[in-house]
Amino acid sequence: MKKVVVVFLIALIATGCADWRRHYHYFLDMQFSPGGDTAKVDTVGNRSYDMHEPDGTVPFHGTPAYPYKKDIDVEKATRELKAPASFDLKKGEVQYNIYCEPCHGLKGHAEGPVQKKFVSVRKLTDERADTFPLTKIYHIITAGQGAMGSYAPQVQETNRWNIAAYVKNVLQKKK
Ligand code: HEC
Repeated sequence: MKKVVVVFLIALIATGCADWRRHYHYFLDMQFSPGGDTAKVDTVGNRSYDMHEPDGTVPFHGTPAYPYKKDIDVEKATRELKAPASFDLKKGEVQYNIYCEPCHGLKGHAEGPVQKKFVSVRKLTDERADTFPLTKIYHIITAGQGAMGSYAPQVQETNRWNIAAYVKNVLQKKK
């Protein structure tokens, strides 16, 4: 009896370690969905990982998916987005220092440590960025711009507004 149990256990361990993956696939993407590298362009849809919702997406619990696409819909988003009535600038500062400072720097002068490796980082306080309305800054944080990715997966909506307000009302005023 003991022998049977031992043999059974060995068989169990051995099969447990066996490569269970079949060498053929019925539906490539269903069993092994390709992992997404957010810093790259996905090889299946050939688009960047910037939180675009698939066509035909419906609202979930009343919250519609963000409808403005990176780079393409900047002007539309700037025009149509409605900023909240008030902001928490203190929270905006804390969030900015976590999520934006590594590239854009504490002062927004593109003096963050990552900027040395990532040469295209832009200043948030120059003649160009100073003209950006609050809604445009919010859109860039949410959807990304050019080499900069979307921060929507990491920063919640209210805090994205708080950060935008901190950039507009504090950093750009201070210089
Ligand atoms: C990993 C580095 C990095 C981080 C972190 C980062 N950005 Fe950027 N940001 C960039 C780069 C690079 C650009 C220039 C993109 C382009 O136009 O190609 C940019 C551009 C911008 C612009 C547009 C400036 C202009 O003149 O066009 C704004 C506004 C901005 N970032 C705000 C933010 C905010 C706010 C955060 C924090 C939520 C943030 N960024 C986090 C790299 C970063």
